[in-house]
Amino acid sequence: MSSILDHDTVSLDEGKNALVIIDQTLLPTRTVMLKLTDLKDIWDAIYLLKVRGAPAIGVAAAIGMYVVSSRYDTDDNDEFLTRFIKDKEYLNSSRPTAVNLSWALNRMEKVLRDNIGLPLSDLKNRLKEESLAILNEDKDMCYRIGENALSLLNKGDGLLTHCNAGQLATSKYGTATSAMYLGHQRGYGFKIYCDETRPLLQGARLTSYELSSAGMDVTVLCDNMVSSLMREGRINAVLVGCDRVAANGDVANKIGTSVVATVAKRYGVPFYVCAPSSTIDPSVKCGNDIVIEQRPADEVTKMWYKEPMAPDNVKVYNPAFDITDNELITAIITERGILRAPYEFKNT
Ligand code: MRU
Repeated sequence: MSSILDHDTVSLDEGKNALVIIDQTLLPTRTVMLKLTDLKDIWDAIYLLKVRGAPAIGVAAAIGMYVVSSRYDTDDNDEFLTRFIKDKEYLNSSRPTAVNLSWALNRMEKVLRDNIGLPLSDLKNRLKEESLAILNEDKDMCYRIGENALSLLNKGDGLLTHCNAGQLATSKYGTATSAMYLGHQRGYGFKIYCDETRPLLQGARLTSYELSSAGMDVTVLCDNMVSSLMREGRINAVLVGCDRVAANGDVANKIGTSVVATVAKRYGVPFYVCAPSSTIDPSVKCGNDIVIEQRPADEVTKMWYKEPMAPDNVKVYNPAFDITDNELITAIITERGILRAPYEFKNT
């Protein structure tokens, strides 16, 4: 039987030269693959969370830039570069918090600038190769994060995760879920708990779906049940992903992450942040410098309900992410190893 895990979260259809994504807004009830070639459609797909999760956004943007630029009808390299920069900046405006978006787009621009003297067909090939390198490196980073994280876990552990930092947020394995997949294959018998993750329900709709599709023991809980679960001693470790890590180890991740971290500290539960290098941004000193995306009010009051769940004119606070202070984090797990405070990320 085919499962959601058989579909690539993000890929390139080489025959049609199209960006292919799963429309994640329709999960878990419908699996619809989208083939995108138009810049505005790719911008919308990122903004509307059809493709989401920091690493997947970066990969989609890289493949998207290749797909869009491969259609430019010019034979002038300078004009190609000018159009590329304009489109790249537009795509970069789709979501502000996950650094993987600008990281991947900057890599694409660098390849273009480094090869600007080549014939255009070769230049386009270089862009295709770079976008696929970003995709394949992401798979490799996620796998290594999983091995590193698994070394901190024990058979039978109760593991809590927030939002979706799974395969649906990356090219494969996920970041926070990578150790869950590897542990599952190796008979660890984890009990996984997924916060539903208000307001967009990535935990309930996506994480519980992909992990249960893989045959894991998964339980969904409302975000406000975390403290109760930890107090009962049912959680041995928290594993979350992230959208940007500042130089001092403060971390931006899905709204509600800092609540989980605070409660975990209270009950002495280790709180691990899983971060590929593509999510580390040493150019921001601390969490206060990270731009937090604000989302429309309807996501809180109307989107999931038959009827509005708040008066029409009431004010709504809907930040998509929050900052977890570094002192709440037990370790940041990257593909390179397990890092503990004091964190001092530098440009490499
Ligand atoms: O708004 P989303 O669904 O893109 O938010 C996703 C998250 O916050 C993830 O935890 C983060 O991007 C890490 S994904 C490996």
